[in-house]
This record gives sequence, C-alpha cells and structure tokens, in this order.
Amino acid sequence: MTFQNPFGQPLLTFPELDKSPLSIRAKALVFIDPRSQQLRQALEHLAPQALPVLIRGETGTGKELLARQIHRASDRAGLFVSVNCAAISPTYADAELFGYSAGTLGGTASSRAGWFGSANGGTLYLDEIADLPLEIQGKLLAALENREVTRVGAQQPQAVDVRLVAATSIDLARVVRAGRFNERLYQYLLEGALELPPLRERRGDILPLAEYFVGIYCVRLQRPLPLISEAAQRLLEAHAWPGNTRELENVIHFALLVNDGDEILPEDLDLPDTAR
Ligand SMILES: Nc1ncnc2c1ncn2[C@@H]1O[C@H](COP(=O)(O)OP(=O)(O)OP(=O)(O)O)[C@@H](O)[C@H]1O
Ligand SMILES: [Mg+2]
Repeated sequence: MTFQNPFGQPLLTFPELDKSPLSIRAKALVFIDPRSQQLRQALEHLAPQALPVLIRGETGTGKELLARQIHRASDRAGLFVSVNCAAISPTYADAELFGYSAGTLGGTASSRAGWFGSANGGTLYLDEIADLPLEIQGKLLAALENREVTRVGAQQPQAVDVRLVAATSIDLARVVRAGRFNERLYQYLLEGALELPPLRERRGDILPLAEYFVGIYCVRLQRPLPLISEAAQRLLEAHAWPGNTRELENVIHFALLVNDGDEILPEDLDLPDTAR
C-alpha cells in the first residue's frame, strides 16, 4: 500500500504492519529530499541482490527502518531478525548468535537456533556491528560464506541461508585500522554500502517527516490533526537535529502532548529558540 503525504509524493509503506495502526515503528519511509531519493534508488537496486549490506549513519537516522525496507524489497521469505550487538553477552555470544544443542550450556533441555538460525531464509540485522566480539566476527564471516553454522555443543553443521544487513554509527575503517574489527568481514560488508545522511544534510525531509509524525501520533493520541504554524516550521527547519529523525519524532510527540489546539506553535516545540 502507498499513501499520499501532504507534499504529494507517495510513501513506501509496510503492508504487513498496516494491521497495527498504533505501531510507530517502520510504518513508512519518508524520503523526499533529493539525497534521500538517491538513497531510495540505491536501496531498490541493492535489495533484490543477495549481497550483504552495511548501513552507515548517525544515531536516530533510520538505519533499522532502512534495513527493514531492504528485507521487504528483497522478497526473502524468512524473518527479519534484529539484534543489537552491544546487547549480546560476550560470554554467551557464540550461543546467542549461532544457537546451541540440547544438553549444553549447563544442561539445558532444549536446543535453540540462535539469532543466525532464526534468520534462516530471511535477513539478519546486526546493529552497531563494531560491538560484536572480535572472536565472533570471524565465525560470522565463515557462516555467511560457507552457508552453514555449527551450534554450540553440536557435532554437525547445519545449512543456513542468511542475508546480513549490518549497521554502524562509527567509522568502521578506523576500527579495522585499530585492529578491533575483522578486516575480511569489513570487506565482505562493503559490497553493499549505504550511507544514510544525517537529517541536517537532507533538510527537505524535515517538514515531510514532521507532518508524517503529526499524523501518526494524532491517530495514536486519538486527537484531531493540527497544522504546524509557519513560525514552528521555520524553527524545525533551522534546528541541527543532533539526534536526527528520532529526535524530530520525540519533539513532535511532545508538542502534541502539550498543545491540543489546532495549530502547533514554536513554544510547543522543545527546541532552542533559534528561528524566532
Ligand atoms: N525516513 C523515515 N520515514 C519515517 N520514519 C522514519 C524515517 N527514518 C526514521 N524514522 C523513524 O525514526 C525513528 C528512528 O529510526 P531507527 O530506529 O530506524 O533509527 P536508527 O538509525 O536505527 O537509530 P539508532 O542509531 O538509535 O539505532 C523510528 O521511529 C523510525 O520509524
Ligand atoms: Mg537502530
């Protein structure tokens, strides 16, 4: 399904999520600025190919949303499995990622597929990949290249077909040079590199995104749709958005909580007053 935004351009939407209108996550991709449209073209070109993807972008720029869109546009039948590498326990990283067989790990009765196995036939999204323990990085590469994994405690490897989409908010090349990231895994990921520019470098997205979030949160809050006053629009456009789209989303959410009138005013925006 596509729907028109107030700027007249169709948005890409995620039909499988249309059933849950209150879910803010991954409902649509607002890509209006010319830089975003270029990115959308690169995405459409890359998505159907079997290549791994590395998304580079600051915090809150929409990396996970982009990864979900890549999965959707790839027509891979399996799941989209999202894992934050910073949250993986260093001690059990092996088992968490590649699974374990029954009887291992202190006598657990059942086996587990692990994140990698759960993404079989689908897409594994590894957020902040630089945080993946170094020992696991080589194993991840081997699993991707050989298309098989051996669960912790298992004798035989199992065949798996996983497309990796990784994200990083830091410069991985520097981490490689510092000896803390596997160079071959880095080269493997570079085959499909996508750069997600910060919001301040695609200012044409700011107002469309603001309108989009107003629409989403009004449904969520069950309130009528207000306009964004011109002064508030100027303020939104002038802000540097260090927290990117996530920060914009929070600012709009806040504005709708503090003002239930028919116009969002500059004082409703929790922003430094630069444009008045
Ligand atoms: N182009 C977009 N169109 C619509 N919503 C977006 C867009 N980009 C980001 N968002 C929304 O902004 C929020 C942040 O996006 P997301 O979680 O994908 O960012 P991220 O780069 O993964 O952030 P982090 O670095 O914190 O992990 C989400 O609610 C997402 O749905
Ligand atoms: Mg993220």
